[in-house]
Amino acid sequence: MNYSFLIEKAREAMEYAYAPYSNFKVGAALLTESGKIYTGCNIENISFGATNCAERTAVFKAVSEGEKAFKAIAIVSSSGKFTPPCGICRQVLSEFSEDIDIILTDKDDNIKIIKLNELIPFSFDSIN
Ligand code: THU
Repeated sequence: MNYSFLIEKAREAMEYAYAPYSNFKVGAALLTESGKIYTGCNIENISFGATNCAERTAVFKAVSEGEKAFKAIAIVSSSGKFTPPCGICRQVLSEFSEDIDIILTDKDDNIKIIKLNELIPFSFDSIN
């Protein structure tokens, strides 16, 4: 599948990043199985631990509107390098869709597509 439309949405979302402490902007665009796109950016806080990553912003927007089946997420950052999701975001994504495509791109438009379960094998999945 050609995910360039999703990457473009992630780039647009990155413009809204609130990152005055790290100056590292991240944008994400999450594609649902139903064909909707939810975007997100990182939102930092002066109490650093309260910061929310771009990926989780997108997931929380989607879930809060009743969407829980995801197909792909595109992630871009101001570094211009491939920016794989952090461990917390991998865990949050795995809650909903284990074989989601993770679409990464760099400033030269190289694209890397990885399955979530390659990034977080054997994730925590039971409290019983
Ligand atoms: N960040 C994300 O938005 N996504 C990630 O997967 C890794 C890190 C943000 C959090 C913080 O605002 C900045 O990047 C630097 O860590």
